[in-house]
Amino acid sequence: MGLLLPLALCALVVCCGAAPPTQQAPSPSPLLSHSCNSSYVLEVANFVLQDINRNRKDGYVLSLNRVSDVREHRQGDLGSLFYYTLDVLETDCHVLSRRSWKSCSVRYLHLSVYGQCKAIFYINEARRIFYLAAYNCTLRPVSQLAIVRMCPDCPGPAGLSEPRVWEAVTESLAEYNSRSTSKYSLVKITKASSQWVTGPAYFVEYLITESPCAISQASSCALQSSDSVPVGLCKGSLNRNEDDDTEKLVWVTCEFFKSQVPTPGGQNATANQGPTNLPKEEEPRQKNTARADSPAKAVPEGAIRCLPSLDDEDSGQSQGKGPVEAFPVQLDLTTNPQGEPLDVSFLLLKPVEEELVVLPFPSKEQRSAECPGPAQNANPLILPP
Ligand SMILES: *[C@@H]1O[C@H](CO)[C@@H](O)[C@H](O)[C@H]1NC(C)=O
Ligand SMILES: *[C@@H]1O[C@H](CO)[C@@H](O)[C@H](O)[C@H]1NC(C)=O
Ligand SMILES: *[C@@H]1O[C@H](CO)[C@@H](O)[C@H](O)[C@H]1NC(C)=O
Repeated sequence: MGLLLPLALCALVVCCGAAPPTQQAPSPSPLLSHSCNSSYVLEVANFVLQDINRNRKDGYVLSLNRVSDVREHRQGDLGSLFYYTLDVLETDCHVLSRRSWKSCSVRYLHLSVYGQCKAIFYINEARRIFYLAAYNCTLRPVSQLAIVRMCPDCPGPAGLSEPRVWEAVTESLAEYNSRSTSKYSLVKITKASSQWVTGPAYFVEYLITESPCAISQASSCALQSSDSVPVGLCKGSLNRNEDDDTEKLVWVTCEFFKSQVPTPGGQNATANQGPTNLPKEEEPRQKNTARADSPAKAVPEGAIRCLPSLDDEDSGQSQGKGPVEAFPVQLDLTTNPQGEPLDVSFLLLKPVEEELVVLPFPSKEQRSAECPGPAQNANPLILPP
């Protein structure tokens, strides 16, 4: 089932004088291919992921494992819309730390969370606009069946509501508070794993906030309401001795966020606007009058979806159904094969006659030839198919 070829779009690309050097004679699709290993593609992928992380208020910073696919739609003076598919890995930095993914470490293989993001990214180099129009990601934890086979003694994920997890959180936070002048209380547990060492050991990560409690009452008000603003992330562990239950080892470290305030401007923050007085004259162009003037959404939107490990999925009722996409990521600002206008006038800061066109997200079958690119970590356990 080939793509419906919008003749009008082909004509638009050609007549706008943006015929790129890489494009062969009559192209069936207005989308250009790129190598997923080209330095330009990787540089833009860096911006894309940075903006995705910056837009989030929950979860851990994602790092780029590889560019899985990239397509570009050049649209004359308006610039280009890129359709990116990125294979990502979770790091151990919380998004509220606002740290760049490059300065964060990915998790150990046995506790990996990996997945795929799709993003639609607008670039107008002349006006220095780099704008994340939309994204969606799907993540899963690494297969524990495969990990246990490789490393039976490695730590494995633990349920966030397990009593032992709760105990590790309260004990390690009490330990932190006993050494700190300010007192903190729990906002939310974000991660937990366990391992048999000299007995059960639990490793936890949790968000904290400044506690209004006096030192003497610290244990009675350990839990803050979950809508309080987190000021930092703690990593703690509690290791008990199998033979002597009173013997325990508590370890804790906390990192405080530079600013707890989400990026100023909220949803608009990812728009990187150039100087307003760029004296670039917009030539009048033939406007596609056939298109309705209903702009697609102009603010970045996106979500991270966390699914269970593929282990759990396989044991389910997948029989009878066709092959199920392992990392389903939907990102369609339109379903119209001819495309739809995407309103970027608020970025251009002046009325524009032309309209940027957004197409349905290109399917996997249309992948660029030199894609996916090389992976930072090529272990098949953490690469989406
Ligand atoms: C974000 O952009 C929209 C659309 O231009 C605008 O109406 C809104 O005021 C902006 N919000 C902020 C917080 O700047
Ligand atoms: C993003 O994914 C959600 C489902 O997780 C879906 O409802 C939404 O429409 C997607 N966004 C876009 C722009 O396709
Ligand atoms: C990707 O590019 C780098 C540097 O340009 C090069 O060293 C490397 O061999 C390339 N890898 C692949 C798989 O093409």
